[in-house]
Amino acid sequence: MSAIEPVISVRDVGMTYSARDGSRNTVLRGCDFDIAPGEFVSIVGQSGGGKTTLLKIISGLLQNTEGEVLVRGRDVTEALRDIAMVFQSPTLLPWRNNLANVMLPMEFRKRATPEARAHARELLDLVGLGDKAKNYSYELSGGMQQRVSICRALVSHPEILLMDEPFGALDAMTRDSMNFELQRIWQETRRSVLFVTHSIPEAVWLADRVLVVGDRPGRIIADIRVDLPRPRAKETRYLDEFAELVAQVERLLGVEAGIS
Ligand SMILES: Nc1ncnc2c1ncn2[C@@H]1O[C@H](COP(=O)(O)OP(=O)(O)O)[C@@H](O)[C@H]1O
Ligand SMILES: [Mg+2]
Repeated sequence: MSAIEPVISVRDVGMTYSARDGSRNTVLRGCDFDIAPGEFVSIVGQSGGGKTTLLKIISGLLQNTEGEVLVRGRDVTEALRDIAMVFQSPTLLPWRNNLANVMLPMEFRKRATPEARAHARELLDLVGLGDKAKNYSYELSGGMQQRVSICRALVSHPEILLMDEPFGALDAMTRDSMNFELQRIWQETRRSVLFVTHSIPEAVWLADRVLVVGDRPGRIIADIRVDLPRPRAKETRYLDEFAELVAQVERLLGVEAGIS
């Protein structure tokens, strides 16, 4: 363990959902890990394994039934403004232009200042949409909409960016370019990122560490360091170390065959 104070500490977190009929469903148990400042951590696991539940707990959207989540040593409920989440679908408001969508979190915080607007424009520039500030989401492709929602997540300068399968709905080529885009944004903004994906190659390509979630109940079955050189390039995928890491995660998840 390094001496650097973690940004997020997930301590023995468990979650049991209780249904109205009294039945209980334990979906997470004993999840325990830290995330360092500026670290990029991917999470992979079978569908239904509790990954979204874990992200909702870390974002404060959902109350865990066991353990605790600390953000720089404070309870997560006191640190909500340090955390932003990006979901699988962009969830942009159709009656607002792109700049106004990016500004939404600042309006909620009553901080829609000229400086905040300038920052929102910078973020749109950063993702290559500087000329689309006055356009509406229906005028954008799916990949562009997801870039706008990443800007919206970053506009309040959160320390932690939680991403729940953000590129899951995109076609393979758009997804590849979004991975490059995300790597660049991460390198320029140096947030801690927790990134859920069902694509093992995507998880490995982006991350400093890959957490593997086993299911029934969900728990961390492996925490794998990825020491591939940065920045990652297209050619990174052809390295032996890359293939070995992907194969290691596939074995852990019991993936027998298939391409993803
Ligand atoms: N609000 C909820 N109430 C009850 N059960 C839920 C709720 N949300 C998720 N679950 C259950 O928790 C399990 C894990 O779901 P989820 O966290 O969405 O997994 P993943 O994101 O890994 O696919 C699933 O069995 C799901 O049915
Ligand atoms: Mg999910």
